[in-house]
Amino acid sequence: ALIEKGNHRHFMEKEIHEQPIVVAQTLGAYLDPLAETVGLPPCDFDLAAITRIQIVACGTALLAGHVASYWLESLARIPVAIENASEFRYREPVCGPDALLLVISQSGETADTLAALRHARAAGQKVAAVVNVPSSTMAREADLLLPTHAGPEIGVASTKAFTCQLAVLAAFAVALARLRGTIDAEAEAAHVRMLTEAPAAMNAALALEAPIQALAQPLSRAQDILYIGRGPDFPMALEGALKLKEISYIHAEGYAAGELKHGPIALVDEHMPVIVIAPSGPRFEKTISNMAEVMARGGQVVLISDAAGLAAQAAGTMAAIEVPQVPSFIQPLVMAVPVQLLAYHVALAKGTDVDQPRNLAKSVTVE
Ligand code: G6P
Repeated sequence: ALIEKGNHRHFMEKEIHEQPIVVAQTLGAYLDPLAETVGLPPCDFDLAAITRIQIVACGTALLAGHVASYWLESLARIPVAIENASEFRYREPVCGPDALLLVISQSGETADTLAALRHARAAGQKVAAVVNVPSSTMAREADLLLPTHAGPEIGVASTKAFTCQLAVLAAFAVALARLRGTIDAEAEAAHVRMLTEAPAAMNAALALEAPIQALAQPLSRAQDILYIGRGPDFPMALEGALKLKEISYIHAEGYAAGELKHGPIALVDEHMPVIVIAPSGPRFEKTISNMAEVMARGGQVVLISDAAGLAAQAAGTMAAIEVPQVPSFIQPLVMAVPVQLLAYHVALAKGTDVDQPRNLAKSVTVE
């Protein structure tokens, strides 16, 4: 079918705005809202017998996996290793039937991810695949297919596929935790209720377009931009920086907030915007003290937090972006929205080709 932009300027903008709907569709394939349980598609191996997980993917899909590693370890108490697909085969990875390889790919065709899948299967390891294209090679070759229902994604920089990957991975973490007995039925129900809230909160986050647009001009004049976050906000910082460099061509880097003082703080002066991703909660105070280190050196801070966080700490920042207050479990799904909108509007201010950034391909089928 012909896919159109409708009243949107770019496919990327359309796909950002579609997220509440496609995330709800994707969650609908895994959650039973009445029974408050999570169901997984059938597979021919014993998922409960797996003792460790290796996550392998490329680009934005890898960062979805990085967020998921926090969910899998905290809920299912299973060790997770995460790696660029392009590196997996080259360090003689320890594969075997005790481990699960979890690949994540919008297209299901990325050459490095597919090579990792085949390498693991050849070593007798089971593979689960989070894939958006149901007819793809990875979907066919995986032992357990975990589909995302994002619909066709046209913008080269991934947006809705990313949040649908997060939705599937969150549901998978809850299901695996139940299988392993690390959470009880009551906790499963609570997590299902939280996930069910995510699409409405993402919809509310779309209202951040106006304040983010107001920031785009000043940010578009920066040479370099840093993103920092702690816990799952660290991969969100990496995703913010990746999205920005992909479509605006501004050099950006994501750092674990605590790592700032081990190098990148040397770059900070009054010309350096620093995007601080710090929702209120147990990690807030630590990240805010890293933010204070930036401000003490004249760095221009954009703080992305919720009402409670901003009430405590917005003074002295260049801008404060208020995301809806949600349970920390679903925060990454909501945080993705302002992170994507920021990259999009800075790119618009720079006048780059948002849907077809130079030198990039939607699907990389060479290693
Ligand atoms: C390319 C795209 C990215 C994407 C990555 C992985 O680099 O530009 O947006 O995240 O490939 O693609 P996949 O289809 O495996 O998710």
